[in-house]
Amino acid sequence: NDQAPLSREDRVKNLKGIGSERKRVEDARFTQGKGNYVDDINLPGMLFGDFVRSPYGHARIKSIDKEAALAVPGVVAVLTAEDLKPLNLHYMPTLAGDVQAVLADEKVLFQSQEVAFVIAEDRYIAADAVELVEVDYEELPALTDAFKALDEDAPLLREDIKDKMEGAHGPRKHHNHIFLWEEGDKDGTEKALSDAEVVAEELITYQRVHPCPLETCGCVASMDKINGKLTLWGTFQAPHAVRTVASLITNIAEHNIRVVSPDIGGGFGNKVGVYPGYICAAVASIVTGVPVKWVEDRMENLTATAFARDYHMTGKIAATKDGKITGLWCHVLADHGAFDACADPTKFPAGFFHIVTGSYDIPVAYVGVDGVYTNKAPGGVAYRCSFRVTEAAYLIERMIEILALKLDMDPVELRMKNFIRKEQFPYQSALGWEYDSGDYHTAMEKGMAAVEYDALRKEQAENRAAFDRGETRTLMGVGTAFFTEIVGAGPVKNCDILGLGMFDSCEIRIHPTGSAIARLGTISQGQGHATTFAQILATEIGIPAEDITLEEGDTDTAPYGLGTYGSRSTPVAGAATAMAGRKIRAKAQMIAAYLLEVHEGDLEWDVDRFQIKGNPEAHKTMKELAFASYNQAIPGLEPGLEAVSYYDPPNMTYPFGAYFCVVDVDVDTGVVDIRRFYALDDCGTRINPMIIEGQVHGGLTEALAIAMGQHITYDEGGNVHGGSLMDFFLPTAVETPVWETDYTTTPSPHHPIGAKGVGESPNVGGVPAFSNAVHDAFAHKGLTHTQMPHDHWRVWQTAQKLGLTD
Ligand code: CDP
Repeated sequence: NDQAPLSREDRVKNLKGIGSERKRVEDARFTQGKGNYVDDINLPGMLFGDFVRSPYGHARIKSIDKEAALAVPGVVAVLTAEDLKPLNLHYMPTLAGDVQAVLADEKVLFQSQEVAFVIAEDRYIAADAVELVEVDYEELPALTDAFKALDEDAPLLREDIKDKMEGAHGPRKHHNHIFLWEEGDKDGTEKALSDAEVVAEELITYQRVHPCPLETCGCVASMDKINGKLTLWGTFQAPHAVRTVASLITNIAEHNIRVVSPDIGGGFGNKVGVYPGYICAAVASIVTGVPVKWVEDRMENLTATAFARDYHMTGKIAATKDGKITGLWCHVLADHGAFDACADPTKFPAGFFHIVTGSYDIPVAYVGVDGVYTNKAPGGVAYRCSFRVTEAAYLIERMIEILALKLDMDPVELRMKNFIRKEQFPYQSALGWEYDSGDYHTAMEKGMAAVEYDALRKEQAENRAAFDRGETRTLMGVGTAFFTEIVGAGPVKNCDILGLGMFDSCEIRIHPTGSAIARLGTISQGQGHATTFAQILATEIGIPAEDITLEEGDTDTAPYGLGTYGSRSTPVAGAATAMAGRKIRAKAQMIAAYLLEVHEGDLEWDVDRFQIKGNPEAHKTMKELAFASYNQAIPGLEPGLEAVSYYDPPNMTYPFGAYFCVVDVDVDTGVVDIRRFYALDDCGTRINPMIIEGQVHGGLTEALAIAMGQHITYDEGGNVHGGSLMDFFLPTAVETPVWETDYTTTPSPHHPIGAKGVGESPNVGGVPAFSNAVHDAFAHKGLTHTQMPHDHWRVWQTAQKLGLTD
């Protein structure tokens, strides 16, 4: 080899490892239309399924007549609950310990509920036949107001469990009650409130929204009767869990089920749960012996698959006159819809809502959450967040602003006064969490300097004076949010989904010529895992990222994992990747010691090689060691270079951030112009700054959507509104402002490379920042709180109520 050896700097650069702005390897296929999504899968002889759905929010099914539909040429079958009953598949277990009707059995409980499944030779025939299935309903009174769910005379929704007064999370106190879940010191908190110099109290609703991924949910089920193997391709955020659940409910042995998540066009929590479409497609394929595809349309996605939020939160915050917070009390009325299908770790029916003390050192706190049934679609998923942390962050960040108003104190000053201090980490929160690391004051100060916070407040004072003089009709608002996320579920000891511990995994095989394949238990839905996890490995094992193939999503090949949601991939599977890499390196070190004829302890790792300490010329590169592992008989070592790691994280990771939003509100039209949005994120060690920036841009755009427009509502008759993109706000480049991003780096002390998650942080922190900005614009006019979303109509109404318009 006559080439000059590369400098150490160039060797590091070549790896494109941790910290490098590597371009996304996935984008070559995505930008050229070469992705392979579920709907791209077309198998010979494949049939198509489509649902007959309920037009009523609450009704009794008196009869179903399939005849006209079955008479349509090309229609193969029409399934109803009666057909599923002999298979015991008319109900399926939910992730929350409840059961959900696969096809409505005697009653429908929400508009758009699945009533019958038409199977036909093509998608259009199926859709036409759906129209011909005649269902005779007797309408019942619908319950859509969660506050009325526990009234004595509230209609009985769940007849199937009416006598079951012990639910999955303790006693039920009413036929529409699901659980009461409590955490913290209730008496201590009530005492803090009664002793307090100042108490702020507010009912804060986080409205019902929907994750609305660009690709809707779907699957292709294919039963190979010869080999007895069922293959399910689907939009699954947790393919292994789907395999286990499919095995448990179909009684097909787990090794005979293969679940594949191909490319997924966004998940955001919507694709975590199991939907009736998956079960019906699988049953249809088992019965017909040919593959069956089910892909929902946009309206079905918005109205029938998992919603998010719908939390009515009452907060009480106690403080001294000079702004030291002394206690936090909250009660949540949680609207779970018709079935409790919330996607949370089993022990946490309100997810991680008890991270609600946020970034503040609050000595005593209490949370109580009552879950109730209503005639709405089930779900309760973590829409780009870690199990209800978004709701928690919104509550505490609004309560801080409301308390600041009451104290007549600047909200940033109030935050700084109550932040957990750097030296307090690891910090034990009053509600039981151990925050791993943080430096909140530094992050806030950096943010304040970047946005010139004091100058903004000065400008605002001038704007307010000008408004009062009648010189402008625009009010300026400055919104701040400081959030602490909790991501990386989770330690197996307290986090499981349906009894499956929430570890994750990575398996690596190094090929003889020094390239590699790594397979993970997670599944990217756009987060760029193939790019970033290869970067972790590049740094750990000294093989350039571009020489590492990364594969996820096929349960026949990938090691078992709990999937991707709740920003858990980097904290859990990222850690497994680093640990598996270290196992590879440990074996490579033994090989290097043999080849260089030294003791292992005489070697040191340097970027991409082992070298003899003090004599770097004597070295073996990882490429050489890979080859040696396959072609040399090394005493005491097996041939080959492979490793697997199943990683059970010792704790969650706690990313945080300081966000500032500046708005100008036109009081006459309610139009909110977002002048500036600054987001500082701290996700510990940064694997790929460019991907992080992309994640933050995406998360902020979804935060904008939620805070400023998204809302799924129901009228009294149980009709869903907001169920199409004519009504449901999905921001485009037109509505989206320029995002300014920034960072600090506070590594996680327990993660092998110090990384915390980031994908969801901007959604968690973004929503309160927007909302606080809108509220702040009206704060001097007496506005304490108004419910989201802050669309033009509502903002205009606020201005009117405050007497600011004619
Ligand atoms: O679980 P999910 O992939 O949704 O979220 P995540 O773990 O926060 O990762 C989102 C993307 O950002 C992945 O490609 C990560 O590897 C990347 N990331 C990063 O580059 N550095 C971090 N400290 C955290 C995430």
